[in-house]
Formats: sequence, structure tokens, C-alpha cells
Amino acid sequence: MIMSPNTPSAVDLSLPEELLLALLNEESGYFHQVPGWNLNCAIAGAALADLSLIGRIDTDLESLTLLDATETGHPLLDPILKEIAAEQESHNTRYWIERLAPRSEMVISQALNALVRREILDHHPGGFYTFTRHLRRGDTSQAEEYSTGEFVKARLTRIIFADEIPEPRDAIIVALVNACDVFHLMYLLDEEIEQRIQFVGKMDLFGAAIGEAVAGSIAAPVFRQPPLTKPIPRVSYLEMARNRHLRAGRLPALFASLAEKHGPVYQVPRPFQEPLIVLAGLQMNQWAHRQGRMYMRSQDYFQGVNEAYGAARSIHSMDGADHFRYRKAIQPAYARSTLTNRLDETYDNARRHMASWQVGDSIPAQKMLRPLLNSQVSPLLTSTDTQDLIHDVLKHKMRVLNVALANILPQFMLRTPVAKRRARVTDELVERTLQAHTPGQRVGKPRDVVDEYLSLHGSDSQFLPQTDLGVPMGTMLMASMYMGDQLGFALYWMTKHPEIRDRVTAEADALFANGDPTDADLTLENIDVTHRVLMESLRMSPIVPMAMRTVMNTVVVEGYELPLGASIYIANTAAHYMEDVFPDPWKFDIDRYLPPRNEHINEGYSPYGLGTHSCLGFRWSELHLALNLLMLTHYFRIELNKDFGDPPMDPFPSQSPSNKLKFRIVEQRHELK
Ligand code: HEM
Repeated sequence: MIMSPNTPSAVDLSLPEELLLALLNEESGYFHQVPGWNLNCAIAGAALADLSLIGRIDTDLESLTLLDATETGHPLLDPILKEIAAEQESHNTRYWIERLAPRSEMVISQALNALVRREILDHHPGGFYTFTRHLRRGDTSQAEEYSTGEFVKARLTRIIFADEIPEPRDAIIVALVNACDVFHLMYLLDEEIEQRIQFVGKMDLFGAAIGEAVAGSIAAPVFRQPPLTKPIPRVSYLEMARNRHLRAGRLPALFASLAEKHGPVYQVPRPFQEPLIVLAGLQMNQWAHRQGRMYMRSQDYFQGVNEAYGAARSIHSMDGADHFRYRKAIQPAYARSTLTNRLDETYDNARRHMASWQVGDSIPAQKMLRPLLNSQVSPLLTSTDTQDLIHDVLKHKMRVLNVALANILPQFMLRTPVAKRRARVTDELVERTLQAHTPGQRVGKPRDVVDEYLSLHGSDSQFLPQTDLGVPMGTMLMASMYMGDQLGFALYWMTKHPEIRDRVTAEADALFANGDPTDADLTLENIDVTHRVLMESLRMSPIVPMAMRTVMNTVVVEGYELPLGASIYIANTAAHYMEDVFPDPWKFDIDRYLPPRNEHINEGYSPYGLGTHSCLGFRWSELHLALNLLMLTHYFRIELNKDFGDPPMDPFPSQSPSNKLKFRIVEQRHELK
């Protein structure tokens, strides 16, 4: 941690942090794949090495002795030092590595956070990392400039290939990277270089001891029961039944209240099935966001839905490299520009639909806003008008999700006459969409989302076969439902706060004063209040409150082992109702997003999901929701038909305004032209 001025340690990196930088693979944006247990041992070893370098412990292969229990001031190292100081018996280094390894997940998570905070790493949506471009002066003799991350790597390279004499901590890093068996993934090695690596790894006595202890722990069977795990608390049926948030359908608040009592990891019962393990709270979000992909997969939970659409797989059920490739291929279609390139047409479609409303009408939120959004979204996604089909298509998808994903309806509910009719309507939609996409018809047309899927299919029909087009084609218009429902919640919260509604109206009137706003007009500054109303609505009433996953590699989080094959709910929006993340969480407060409060700038705020599967359409959605809220307030004065404390909602398959929530058109403020 404290070293000579020419090393990156001068910027105060801990050894676990340096090890992570050394393991970053810049091409893939992620870390060289080191099996979980091995990485955990290496990180624990790095922390012990740091403590030995600053004289808090002494280690050799036989023993690990406490020299000085004074805190180091480093948040990664002090909890470990405390644990060593509290131990009565004496143990060797390998014992400590294996004892500390289960908590390495948290150390990794904290280390990555710190590296991002200190602008050494950039974090990208989907859990990818790259070195920042913030340069620092490197080795003065070479007068080169590196980012800190590159500096760590360049130093490692020079030590191995240029026979540079390493400093002790460099020798330790070499020993640890070698113990992880990763050098062959980083460099083309020959016998001579391998010998050099072995030699350097043994140059420092501590490094050699720790490297060997790590290697010993790694060589032992990986199927070990991680030590010191606690039983996961179980929530009883009675407790669930009595929870007022569950009765009101407020899932984020339900998960937050259970976490308050049971901690961040707990099990909730499910009729006739294994209990579900719930992860809730800021730390769990951080872990899921940054490391979840190594331990949990999406494949299983979505399988039933794929089957219902005749598909083998879809973006929602893919993991790893295939998922990354799929996402990258279709990403351009979901960009914000797909909307901004066609703003004029979108305004016109919205106005045409709004013209069907009469002053005095009282309309249920779902019925009012889902078709409003679909009138705009369907042409952008599919280049077809689907207003006549959308109701049945959405109902079909909701039924499939309730049967095959949430498991709250039995299988036969997919075979009832109504369900079969709606499935046929979905087929009709797919047929209509495909008919509108023959090459001849697409000449000169703006590229839509269907074009993107069809070209992926055309370029590699093995990767995306015709069978697997069923899910994207049949479910694409869920975007109308998601945005319509989220808009319903935003309209609800805005209408409940007249002073805020007046500020949104002022923004809307200013933007539409001289015709329709262009992309250049829609700056964050011009839609500031509208944007924050939406952010706060997404916090308080997020339509997708959690994500389902399956444990594919055993892992210990917060001292609890997540068993292989277990079903997990990442209750990512539970943090939206936690006092330590959002003070006074029940208050609708749009100022929490202003500096210096900035309460949303961490993984606690996650209405668009976390990690590799986070929402591809979120930039599009942010703008599209804002446009609609602005248009609604510019053209109409809308009131709640009845006042409720919280918006009444149906929790499954996504949180949506229940039919009790109705809006009344009180006045038409401007002509719809
Ligand atoms: C209020 C609006 C929306 C919300 C709250 C929302 C939320 C989410 C969430 C939470 C996920 C992650 C699910 C998971 O982790 O399993 C997701 C995924 C996704 N969303 Fe959205 N979404 C919205 C609108 C949209 C729109 C408008 C589009 C397209 C135009 C879209 C396209 C997608 C896609 C393609 C994925 C799958 C990403 C993947 O699996 O890699 N979403 N969305």
C-alpha cells in the first residue's frame, strides 16, 4: 500500500486492487476468467501480503503471526486485520487464505468500486470495465504516459520480459497472477519466460509463502463446503401473508421490509416449490451488477417463455459470450436515435391517438396509456400499425409470463380457448410484421428494430435461427406496455403534486410554444423537472422490480452460501425503499437527484436493471416517457378519478397500474394539430 514514488502504489493502491488491474483483459472488457475459488484465494492472499508488507503480520509457510493490530486506515484491509487479531489460536497462511476466501467477493466488489470512484477504471453498462484515459506519468526514464491500469500491466510486462529487478510487491503480484494460472492467457509464453515467472514469484519471501499457500488452496478440490457460512434466514408464510406491502402489491417495499428484518439474503416460501432466495440492498446490487454474471445465469428462468413462443433461446435467456454478441448486434436498433430520427412522425401518431379522448372521459390508466404508447412505438419497432392487435398480444404475453415465469398460474391456462385465440392474434402480428419486411418494401425506409433482428438472422442463421425469431417478434411490443404503465405511475405521482405538475406544464408549454420540439430542443436542461418526475416515479413505482436468475457456481455472499441450482430473485429495487440509500423513501421528492444529494448515483437506483442484462432500451425509454408526459400536460389537464395514498397496482408479471387507477380528462388546453 505504501511504496516507492515510481510505482502505482504511490497512488495508494492496495495489492488486491493491483491484482485486479493486472487481471483485466482490455479486449473483452472483463477480467481473465479465473475460477471463483482460485480468484478468491488469490485476493485473500493479496490482502495478507499487503498486511505483511506494512508490518502488521509476519508470514511464512508454517505460520502467520500478528505483529501489530493497529488499523491501517484501508477499508479493504482493516476488517481482515481485525479478524486475525481476534483469533486465539495460531494458524498457518493457507488456513487464513481459505478462511478469508469466502469474503473475497465483497473485497472484489469494494475494490472495483474504489477503482471506478478514483477514475482508474471506467465501468460500462453490463458489467464491463476498461482502463480510464486519465493519464499519469510512468517510469520517468522512459518518459511514457500511461493510465494507472496500463501502468500496472506495463510494469508486469517489463519485469517478465525485460529482466527488470522487481520490487517486493511486484514479485508478489507475479506470484499471485501465476497462482491463478493466468499468465498463459495474457502473454505468449515459452520455457524461458515460464522459468523467469517462477523465479520472480519466489524472489520475495512473503510473496513466495503466500503464492505457495494460494497455489495449495487452489489445487485442493473446488467442491469444498466454504467455511463459516450461515444458514439463510427463512420468511414464514404467515409473515408473508401479514406483510402490508405484499397485500398492496408493492414488491420493492415488500423486499425492503423483509431485508430490514432478516438481512440482505433471505428465503421466501413458494407453494409446491423450493423457496426462492432473495438478495436485497445496495451491497447485493453492487455484487449482482459487477460479479453476478460469474455465478448466476438467466438461461433457466426464461426457458418456459421461450418454449411458449416456439424458441430455443432469446436474449433474455442467454449468458456469457453468446449473450454479449447478440446484445451488441441488436444494440443499434434500440438506440435513442431510433426515436429522435423519427420525432415528427411520433408526435403526429401520439396526437392522432389523443384525439380519441373527450373532455369528461374517465379512463383506466392501462387502457389509456398502453395504446397511446403503442401508437408511437409500433411504427418505430415494426413499421406497422398494430393498434387492432395490441390488447390481445399483450394479454397473451402476460399470461405466458404468469404461467411460465412467475409460476402463479397452472400450465393449462395456456390452453384455454381465450389463451389460444390470443396466441393466434400474436401469430397474426408476427405474420403482419414479416410481410412488411420483404426486401423490396424496405427500400428507402428508416431502419427499424425488426430489420436489425432479420439482418442478424440473415448473416448467421445458425446463431439466430427462424425458430428463435418468435420471441423478439412476438414480444417486441411489450415496450408499449412497459412504457405505458410507467407513464401511468408518473402521471399519478405528478397529478398528486400540483406544484410539480405546474412546473412540468411550464416546461411543456415552453417546448411546444413554437411547434414541436426538435432533438436539439430536448436537452436535459429544458426537460429538467419532467425528467426528475420520471426518475422519482421509476424509483417509487418501478414496473420491473426484480430479476430472476439461477445459481450456476457456488458462491458465498455476505456469509451465506448460495446453493447450486437455487432460484434467485435479485430484488434490485428493494434499495429504492431503504432509508440508507434514499432517505425518507416514502416521500415523492424530485430534488433527491440534484447535487449535492445525487442519491441515485450508485447501484441502489436501478429501475432499468443491473449487470449484463440491464435494459437495452433505457435511453430511448427515458426520452420517450418524457415526450409523452410533456405532451399530456401541454394538451390536457388530467386529474385522478379518485385519490389513493399510493397508486393501486397489480404486481405480476410486472408492476402495472390496477384497473382502479383512472384518469379524468378535465380540460383540453391546446388544439391537437
Ligand atoms: C419504463 C420502461 C422500461 C423499463 C422500466 C425497463 C426495464 C428493464 C429491465 C429491468 C430489464 C432487465 C431484465 C433482467 O435483468 O432480466 C430490461 C431488459 C430489456 N429491455 Fe427494458 N425496460 C423499459 C423499456 C424498454 C424499451 C422501450 C425497450 C425497447 C425499445 C426495452 C428493451 C429491453 C431489452 C431488449 C431488454 C433485454 C436486455 C438483455 O437481456 O440483455 N426496454 N428492461
